[in-house]
Amino acid sequence: MEEILTEAACAPSGANIQPWRVYVVSGEVKDGLTHALVTASRAGVAPAPAHFPDPLPHMFRNRLQDFGARYYASLGIERSDTAARTRQTERNYAFFGAPVGLIFSIDRRLKPHSWIDLGLFAQTVMLAAKARGIDTCPQVAFAQFHEPIASYLQMPQEEITAFGMSMGYGDTQAPVNRAAMPRVRLQDFAQILGFAG
Ligand SMILES: Cc1cc2nc3c(=O)[nH]c(=O)nc-3n(C[C@H](O)[C@H](O)[C@H](O)COP(=O)(O)O)c2cc1C
Repeated sequence: MEEILTEAACAPSGANIQPWRVYVVSGEVKDGLTHALVTASRAGVAPAPAHFPDPLPHMFRNRLQDFGARYYASLGIERSDTAARTRQTERNYAFFGAPVGLIFSIDRRLKPHSWIDLGLFAQTVMLAAKARGIDTCPQVAFAQFHEPIASYLQMPQEEITAFGMSMGYGDTQAPVNRAAMPRVRLQDFAQILGFAG
């Protein structure tokens, strides 16, 4: 973990302010965090997830629905089976059974610009892990549980939980890990200009 994080901290950041903070948990500490989150989730104390705006622009809503269909089909969960969907959501808080969990946070006073730096850091963590044969899953599912996370990890007041991440050896046989998540076509997201001559 120290190697991976040291490497990831070479990620670029605007004006080199390096705004990332990360809590790495394993063993009993991870289990305690999972317990706190499952308890909070079942008590219904967290605010509703607000990862996306409502209404979500049409194009993104289509992609979200496509993701949901593929994700739950790979898990064999019917759209109408809310109990099974809740159980699957709760697996996020157990870091999907991975031996290591990470919580990424940032100073809440910073602007969205600095959240770009945090994302770059997290992606570099994922690449540094992959270079060592270790798999990851970034998880926004933790964001809505900032209060119990901050309390459990004794975060300073100015920090806010941005997302979490599971890290371990992925189960390559699990259908959910084999589900193809397609990408939009190059011409639908890139404008490549001025190359003709
Ligand atoms: C910022 C971010 C947040 C994500 N949050 C979650 C999450 O809470 N739970 C989860 O299971 N996967 C989560 N994912 C994984 C995405 O669903 C996944 O990367 C996407 O569907 C594309 O699939 P692929 O990475 O297998 O190609 C997240 C990914 C990112 C980049």
